[in-house]
Amino acid sequence: MLSVRMAGRIRTSLTRTEARAALCGLACGAVLAVAPGAAAERMPAEQAKALQNPVAYAPEAVKAGRNAYLRLCQYCHGADGRAQANPDFEAPSLRDPDEWRYGATDGEIFVSIRDGAGHEMPPFGKQLQDDEIWRVVLFIRSIGPKELRPETP
Ligand code: HEC
Repeated sequence: MLSVRMAGRIRTSLTRTEARAALCGLACGAVLAVAPGAAAERMPAEQAKALQNPVAYAPEAVKAGRNAYLRLCQYCHGADGRAQANPDFEAPSLRDPDEWRYGATDGEIFVSIRDGAGHEMPPFGKQLQDDEIWRVVLFIRSIGPKELRPETP
């Protein structure tokens, strides 16, 4: 009797786990389905170019940007920004603006992060506040060409 009841409980909990897994699958699918659409609503280049980074280029801001970067971006762009060794996505090196397709001004980098770029670069406007995105822009400047780095205040 007892063992039957236990078996019943185990079966119930397995079913719940399976249901949760199925729900998660649905949610993940939804995120992937939404990402390219959101990227299509990217701010036009002229407006993006006009945006100015309101955060000063200072060590603590770069460090905060780096932390966000390591959390959200390294899977595709690599811990050092060079984008090696990801079998799923062909992300560009973030150290080499000459190779970029969506603009290399601060504002365009901001918009690539907030709104996404192309079909594979997801938008991060929901995970990151604007000022956090600007710090990530500063981190990208810190690993990019010296001549594009802002002056330290
Ligand atoms: C799921 C993988 C993935 C993640 C995560 C990701 N990216 Fe990307 N990113 C890409 C791909 C792929 C491209 C190239 C898109 C294209 O060229 O169509 C790209 C493009 C970019 C660009 C534009 C480069 C250009 O060509 O103008 C920037 C800037 C960028 N990513 C920054 C980031 C930052 C910062 C993060 C974290 C907040 C991040 N990415 C997270 C895959 C990713």
